[in-house]
Amino acid sequence: MRFDIISCQPDLLESPFSHSILKRAQQKGLVEVHVHDLRKYAINKHGQIDDYAFGGGAGMVMMIEPIDKIITELQEQRTYDAIIYMTPDGETLNQQTVNKLSLLQNVIILCGHYKGVDERVRQHFVTHEISIGDYVLSGGELGAAVLADAIIRIIPGVLNDESSALTDSFQDGLLAPPVYTRPATYKGMKVPDILMSGDAPKIEKWRFEQAVERTKQRRPDLLDD
Ligand code: ADE
Repeated sequence: MRFDIISCQPDLLESPFSHSILKRAQQKGLVEVHVHDLRKYAINKHGQIDDYAFGGGAGMVMMIEPIDKIITELQEQRTYDAIIYMTPDGETLNQQTVNKLSLLQNVIILCGHYKGVDERVRQHFVTHEISIGDYVLSGGELGAAVLADAIIRIIPGVLNDESSALTDSFQDGLLAPPVYTRPATYKGMKVPDILMSGDAPKIEKWRFEQAVERTKQRRPDLLDD
């Protein structure tokens, strides 16, 4: 899968893709991540990519021309399955959307800034609008990193233990059950006996019950769905 991320603060995206699972996914050739500096497509030599909003009001608006130029250039090189705009008024991201997007080949992610992009960008280029939650970030970059991370970790071959992504919270509509590791007793706090029993079917059943209980307690809305 290939990600082309368009940003006016590309440095913000350096670290998330240079470590751990996301780095290994790229090294294994399973994923390509290309971050593009929108300022290279500025309308003048001053690097202008935004302007005042027509009709007045505080805040700058990202102009259509630089975005058109870079998207057109990318589309001349390959076909894109999705052009995703990161924005707080987009559809709230969930595991179901992540799973769907993980099946795509080539994806552009456009990071918004300031008051957002000229509405014509959304109308004519963008295919998906995604928010990572009901709060406002300084820009779309951190949201883009969250989205790409969630997608990349479920691409087959990315995680060493294939079953690991499938047992994540949300994958079966439930939160994940509690987990424990050594020592079996720490300062008098004991790991549940069942996990030490070696009885795999019983452990499986216990984990399922715990997942249901945890979901009931913390996220009953997931059970409604
Ligand atoms: N840009 C600013 N806030 C955002 C959010 N909550 N999700 C995605 N992109 C954003």
